[in-house]
Amino acid sequence: MFERLTAQPQDKILMLMQAFREDPRADKIDLGVGVYKDAEGRTPIMRAIKAAERQLWEVEETKSYTGLAGDPGYSDAMVALVLGDAVARDAVAAAATPGGTGAVHQGFDLIRMANPDARVFVSDPTWPNHVSMLKHMNMPMVPYRYFDDESRGVDFDGMMADLAEARAGDVVLVHGCCHNPTGANLTLPQWRELVALLQKTGATPMVDIAYQGFGDGLEEDAAAVRLIASELPETLIAASCSKNFGIYRERAGLIMAVSHNAEARALHQGTLNHINRQTYSFPPDHGARLVTMVLNDDTLRADWAAELEEVRLSMLGLREQLAGELRRLSGSDRFGFLAQHRGMFSRLGATPEQVETLRRDFGVYMVGDSRMNIAGLNAGTVPRLAEAIVKAGI
Ligand code: LMR
Repeated sequence: MFERLTAQPQDKILMLMQAFREDPRADKIDLGVGVYKDAEGRTPIMRAIKAAERQLWEVEETKSYTGLAGDPGYSDAMVALVLGDAVARDAVAAAATPGGTGAVHQGFDLIRMANPDARVFVSDPTWPNHVSMLKHMNMPMVPYRYFDDESRGVDFDGMMADLAEARAGDVVLVHGCCHNPTGANLTLPQWRELVALLQKTGATPMVDIAYQGFGDGLEEDAAAVRLIASELPETLIAASCSKNFGIYRERAGLIMAVSHNAEARALHQGTLNHINRQTYSFPPDHGARLVTMVLNDDTLRADWAAELEEVRLSMLGLREQLAGELRRLSGSDRFGFLAQHRGMFSRLGATPEQVETLRRDFGVYMVGDSRMNIAGLNAGTVPRLAEAIVKAGI
C-alpha cells in the first residue's frame, strides 16, 4: 500500500538549514531559518528560562497528565501577555499546543469544523508553512496582495482591495507583528482601517503572532491583535513562545478563540479540547510551564523582559548598521527599508539567481525569495554581507 505514496516537496527553509550545515566554508553566513543568534552565533537559553528550569527541577512532583487544553495557568498567563486587558478573560477559549505551528494547525482545524467551505485569505507572501498546511488540510485558500516590491513596504491599497472580496464565513489570516517573510508591517491607522473592513465584510480574522517583543516592544507588538480582538465579534489567535522565550525545541504555543459570549466560549473551549484529543491528546507541558513560571514571578519576568529587549535592540542595531553600510557602498538610499522593517526578517528584493550567487560565491544563505534572518548577522558579518549584496548586483 505505501508504494502509492508520492514524494512530498521538501520545506525550503529546512532544506536551506541542511545545506548550510553541509557547507565546509568557515566564513559562511546563515540568514536562513528564523532562529535568534547572539553576536557569537549562539542561540542562548534565556536567563529567566534557565532559572525557571532550575526551580522546576526542585519543585515538580509529578509528570502525570495536565488537561486536554494544557495547564489553565499557562493559558491565563499567555492570554494576559498577548491580549492585556483588551478583552475579558472569560471571552477567551484557549488551548496549549506544540509550538506556534501547532496553534496554527488547531486554528485551521477549528475553522474547517465550523465551515468546511471557509476560504482562508493569506498574505502574498506569507510564511510558506501557512500555505503548505492549508493545502495539506484541503482548505480553500485565497492570496491577498501584501508586499510592494518597489518600495519594499506594504501594498496597503492592494491588500484592502483584495480583502474586500472576503465574506462572512471566510477567514483573513494576518501576522500580528513582524511579518514573516517580508518584515514590512501595517501602521496602527492601517490596522484600524482593516478592522473597519472586517466589520463591513463579516469575515473572521485569525492573527498569527510568533514574534511578540521582537519588533517595537512587547506592548507595541500586541497593539494590533488587541485592537482586532476587542473590536470584532470573533477572533482566532495563534501565539508562539518559541522566539520570545527562546524555547524553540520545547514546543510551546497557544490557540485562542475570542468570542465575547459565554455560551460561544464554552462551545469553543470544548471544541479546542476535542481537537487536541484527536491530534495528540495532551499538549506538551515543559515549555509551557517554564513560560508560566517566568510570567508569574516578578523577578523572572523583569529579567526575561530585559533580555528580550536586549535581543530586540540588537536586531535593530544590525538593521541600522546594514542599511548604513549599504548606503555607503551603493551610494544610494535604496536599502533604507532595512532599517524600517521590524522583526527577524527582511525581504531584500533580490532575484532567485542573485540569491544563488550570494550562496555560491559568498557563502551567504538566505531563503530563495531573498528573506534574510537579520538575527543571523553580527557586527563583523554585516560589512561582508553588504559587500556581497553590492557585488552580486542587487
Ligand atoms: C521560520 O520562518 O524560519 C521559522 O518560523 C521557523 C520555521 O518553522 O519555519
